[in-house]
Amino acid sequence: MVRHWHWSITALLCVVIPVGARNLPKRANSSDVLDYVNPLIGSQAGGNVFAGATLPYGMVKASPDVNGENTGGFSTDGSQITGFSALHDSGTGGNPSLGNFPIFPQICSSDDLNTCKFTIGTRAINYINDSIIAKPGHFGVTLENGIKTDMTVSEHAALFEFDFSGTSNGNGSGDPLIMLDLTDLWASRQNASISVEEEEGNEGGRLKGNGTFLPSFGAGSYIAYFCLDLSGGTVKDSGVWVNNRAGTEPKDLYVTRGFNLFYLEAGGFVRFKGPLSGPISARMGISFISTGQACRNAEDEIPGPDFDFEGTVIKTQDAWREKLAPISIESGGTDESGLVSFWSAVYRTMISPQDYTDENPHWTSPEPYFDSFYCLWDMWRVQLPFLTIMDPLQQSRIVRSLLDIYKHRGWLPDCSMSTCKGWTQGGSDADNVLVDAYVKNLTNIDWDLAYEAIVNDAEKEPLEWSVEGRGGLASWKRLNYIPYLDFNPNGFGTNSRSISRTLEYSYNDFNLATLAKGLGKDTYTKYIGRAGSWQNLFKAGQTSDINGTDTGFTGFFQPKYLNGTWGYQDPIACSPLADFCSLTSNPSETFESSAWEYMFFVPHDIAKIIELLGGEETFLKRLDFFHTSGLADIGNEPVILTVYMPHYAGRPGLSAKRAHYYIPSRFNSSLAGLPGNDDSGAMASFTLFSTIGLFPNPGQNVYFIIPPFFEAVSITSPATNKTATIKNINFDPGYQNIYIQSAKLNGEDYSKNWIGHEFFTEGWTLELVLGREESMWGTKMEDRPPSLSDTTGSIGYMT
Ligand SMILES: *[C@@H]1O[C@H](CO)[C@@H](O)[C@H](O)[C@H]1NC(C)=O
Ligand SMILES: *[C@@H]1O[C@H](CO)[C@@H](O)[C@H](O)[C@H]1NC(C)=O
Ligand SMILES: *[C@@H]1O[C@H](CO)[C@@H](O)[C@H](O)[C@H]1NC(C)=O
Ligand SMILES: *[C@@H]1O[C@H](CO)[C@@H](O)[C@H](O)[C@H]1NC(C)=O
Ligand SMILES: *[C@@H]1O[C@H](CO)[C@@H](O)[C@H](O)[C@H]1NC(C)=O
Ligand SMILES: *[C@@H]1O[C@H](CO)[C@@H](O)[C@H](O)[C@H]1NC(C)=O
Ligand SMILES: *[C@@H]1O[C@H](CO)[C@@H](O)[C@H](O)[C@H]1NC(C)=O
Ligand SMILES: *[C@@H]1O[C@H](CO)[C@@H](O)[C@H](O)[C@H]1NC(C)=O
Ligand SMILES: *[C@@H]1O[C@H](CO)[C@@H](O)[C@H](O)[C@H]1NC(C)=O
Ligand SMILES: *[C@@H]1O[C@H](CO)[C@@H](O)[C@H](O)[C@H]1NC(C)=O
Repeated sequence: MVRHWHWSITALLCVVIPVGARNLPKRANSSDVLDYVNPLIGSQAGGNVFAGATLPYGMVKASPDVNGENTGGFSTDGSQITGFSALHDSGTGGNPSLGNFPIFPQICSSDDLNTCKFTIGTRAINYINDSIIAKPGHFGVTLENGIKTDMTVSEHAALFEFDFSGTSNGNGSGDPLIMLDLTDLWASRQNASISVEEEEGNEGGRLKGNGTFLPSFGAGSYIAYFCLDLSGGTVKDSGVWVNNRAGTEPKDLYVTRGFNLFYLEAGGFVRFKGPLSGPISARMGISFISTGQACRNAEDEIPGPDFDFEGTVIKTQDAWREKLAPISIESGGTDESGLVSFWSAVYRTMISPQDYTDENPHWTSPEPYFDSFYCLWDMWRVQLPFLTIMDPLQQSRIVRSLLDIYKHRGWLPDCSMSTCKGWTQGGSDADNVLVDAYVKNLTNIDWDLAYEAIVNDAEKEPLEWSVEGRGGLASWKRLNYIPYLDFNPNGFGTNSRSISRTLEYSYNDFNLATLAKGLGKDTYTKYIGRAGSWQNLFKAGQTSDINGTDTGFTGFFQPKYLNGTWGYQDPIACSPLADFCSLTSNPSETFESSAWEYMFFVPHDIAKIIELLGGEETFLKRLDFFHTSGLADIGNEPVILTVYMPHYAGRPGLSAKRAHYYIPSRFNSSLAGLPGNDDSGAMASFTLFSTIGLFPNPGQNVYFIIPPFFEAVSITSPATNKTATIKNINFDPGYQNIYIQSAKLNGEDYSKNWIGHEFFTEGWTLELVLGREESMWGTKMEDRPPSLSDTTGSIGYMT
């Protein structure tokens, strides 16, 4: 996380999801998967999900914006609507992202334009809670004043409808006005322009322009362009507004920040003659290239003069159905809320990254261009591995876009939003993404270029390692750890996180070693050596107190100075029992999590961790204490793998038990059903992999096996068209039987507690016989997932 950061249209229009309802509305036993998607999950309590209308990976995302928790635009936190805009991110924390050029409908109380409410503070309005319609591809909500709003999207355009017929003066006096505000969600506008045109015959109006804004978690600035076409009535007048004053002349406006950085609220408007005979349509084309391209995008994708709202919704929903088609579930009588939680999570994995192909303002290239990697630190662990299974063709395009960024910028990105470079959180996370794609045989990728790009991360320190690459490489190469308070005259970045960066760089180098070996490069030995560097920060005697009482666990990662002397960071610092630590707030030697949690972040050598912590028994005890003492932060990514660690100690049943401890108590179908920001779908993917019973350790060809939360799950690989099935025998929907007693793979006994990606691409069948108690299944040394060293210290993994 960046915390600081077949269902018809008619049916669709009458389904209403009550906001704040504890229980979901009764659904029919539907055969349409979209009936199980509730985009509002996470729209409360800081999930910060995007709840509006979008295509899979769509650039344009239409949603109301609120003046409360508005990081994703809309939320159901009881705050007011301030506008409707077409660009958003999903699940991110910190500064709200995008929300550029919001539009807003109203009927002013008299003919005088100056009675209209133009500024955010005056126009903000409550909405009617039970009027919300939230479905893939369609969002609707009625404002307190009776104006009914609906929105849908194409790739690069949004279509809004504003129906005034329900307002108290809707059919009578009053002339409906639509205004556009030259702002974004966090008022980052530097300067902007707008021009207003009335169409011939006054049957509509066009507002177009551009603005320069700041990325919500990154460097530099970006320019967005819009082209808004309004229709549905006869234009009365049009013009521009500044603060709460408006005029019909001039028809264009340029705003900047004055010397005192004063934020002028300004924009344009079109007013229609009431009464209207139907809703006003507002088609918003967006581009990052030019106003002309914004208009063309809109004209091509949602042609006029009569914009087809229902047809656009149907197209968008068909696109979602196709994306969700690879999975089928036999629920085995489980509660419907589990299905809603599951399908909504699948949906949320494809909101971002966003496909900005043909909208890259920085270079031209035949390669795909994706944006909103927000951030790869969040996405590499579970979300992108999920797409590798569900949507490998897109994942391959995503990987190619990372490589194209490397090619043109000289560096792989770590985080990006609105075409800008975002802040790096730890290691060079794109390395992990590329190698996970490699071990899973994604096609159409230039692996030599991938190798070059990762070596670049591993060997060359950029001047600005706050936005790309790794920092402190001179020390890293000389000492094999990142020193506490490093002396680094070579580059700029937040000189903190020495523990977590050491751990992450070690895993980056492990991944590089994997690729080097696969490609037959002689650097394998060098990088597999560096992959062990994490051991240099393990302080065997370190203890940990909570409230002055020794927890009884010994051995933690600790910071170490350049001269080799240990520094100190309380092992519980940065845990939920202490203060949150991020890049700028409370920067510490561990990023966004404690030394307790990072103790388990050695994804390639858990066998060694078990040995260092005193053997299986103390390792399991420590894991248990970690998850039950309040130290674990289940709402943030570093925790993810810890749930499945017992597999390495030969206790796969304990992993299953822990997954059930968190699902549904922390990940569920309520509107507050996420324990933190969804982080572009990263948190969603924790639910997904746990629910299908195969959980990845990305960068390695490993999925940990637990019983699926449904009776059976089948996934047809879009890459091979083969169908993989994992099914439970003795399944009980009350989840008493969560322990695997025995397993069969394609009809043959299978005793390993993990399996490779071939399961999905080759379409294998795994049958799990369940029981109420742990069994001997998957417990033997040879049945555990591979580690670089096994407990006797010999190489267990790469040979
Ligand atoms: C839903 O309908 C299908 C087909 O009619 C049936 O097999 C299934 O048992 C039903 N599921 C539930 C939960 O009612
Ligand atoms: C609407 O829902 C919000 C959030 O649950 C709540 O705070 C507010 O009181 C509700 N408003 C009404 C009128 O029920
Ligand atoms: C406006 O007209 C529509 C359709 O004729 C009708 O349904 C609605 O009730 C009217 N609204 C008002 C406020 O009179
Ligand atoms: C708008 O702001 C950007 C960023 O501050 C600046 O580079 C650009 O020159 C400004 N444009 C105009 C026309 O002032
Ligand atoms: C923004 O629009 C104004 C007015 O049309 C134009 O002068 C300016 O060049 C545009 N800026 C960019 C960066 O395209
Ligand atoms: C990748 O391809 C290689 C060579 O064909 C094959 O041996 C391996 O099993 C494949 N791996 C996966 C995960 O499909
Ligand atoms: C530590 O002490 C404080 C204050 O007495 C208490 O609120 C807190 O729950 C304690 N924490 C733990 C983990 O015991
Ligand atoms: C190593 O450096 C730290 C920080 O400057 C210092 O506190 C410590 O005394 C040094 N240790 C030795 C052995 O010089
Ligand atoms: C659903 O998840 C949220 C967020 O983790 C949690 O606060 C809530 O208690 C959960 N609800 C249920 C019914 O388990
Ligand atoms: C999978 O099936 C689809 C639809 O029948 C077909 O277009 C595609 O070529 C097939 N792909 C493979 C790899 O067989």
